Amino acid sequence: MKSNLAMTNWDRAYKDGKYDQEKPVKFVEDIVNVITKEKLQNKLGFYPGCGNGRNFIPLIDAGLKLEGNDISSVAVDQLKSKRPEAVVSVGDFLTHKTAKPYKYIISLQLFQHTNNGSIEELFKKTRELLSSGGIFVLRVNSIHTQIAEKHKVIKETKEGGLSIGYESGQKKGQTIHFYSAEEIHSLTRKDFSIILPLREEFIPRSDGTYWVQWETILEKRPQPVL
Ligand SMILES: C[S@@+](CC[C@H](N)C(=O)[O-])C[C@H]1O[C@@H](n2cnc3c(N)ncnc32)[C@H](O)[C@@H]1O
Repeated sequence: MKSNLAMTNWDRAYKDGKYDQEKPVKFVEDIVNVITKEKLQNKLGFYPGCGNGRNFIPLIDAGLKLEGNDISSVAVDQLKSKRPEAVVSVGDFLTHKTAKPYKYIISLQLFQHTNNGSIEELFKKTRELLSSGGIFVLRVNSIHTQIAEKHKVIKETKEGGLSIGYESGQKKGQTIHFYSAEEIHSLTRKDFSIILPLREEFIPRSDGTYWVQWETILEKRPQPVL
């Protein structure tokens, strides 16, 4: 969910050089392989929270036909300056509309940003924007992350996930969610089948602690005709 604070924080982070020195995540290779294997590379996909292009640019360079959006106008401007032809706009995932459902949705490190909303509405919006049989790519914060910044716990879910409010650092004031595996399964098992099973990537920080991201690729089950 969009919040003015999140927008300001992200604009500032991108002005300060966020991701300028970072390579795409390795998961991009799996995404390209799956989309190509499913013969969807020429069909329209959507990448909400595309940022300034760290992963979006390699995906379109690999031939994927993607639209993107982001709440940060600084991120969108930076992406456009690198790839003027990219179809990206400033916008909020949760209010995004499409004339025709997308064949695939790529969500990389977006679904932790709940701010004042709920994780359920992010998955509901995904189902709404995705066509029957469409692919859902998810990379999101894991509960096994060692949270380095000062924070307070806002909510613990029954499946073992955690929402926190940052009290310092780049995301000060923002609410961020860390998912358990059971939580991702319970949010997706009814409507999706598994293409790439849930796995974790451990990303070491320079202070010896680590950040952890879940990664999975799912397929939306065809809806029964009533
Ligand atoms: C952790 S960054 C990841 C950026 C990009 N996906 C990447 O992997 O390089 C999260 C991004 O989501 C954007 N964002 C946060 N909430 C959003 C929302 N509700 N709708 C669209 N973008 C959002 C932020 O501005 C930021 O660019």
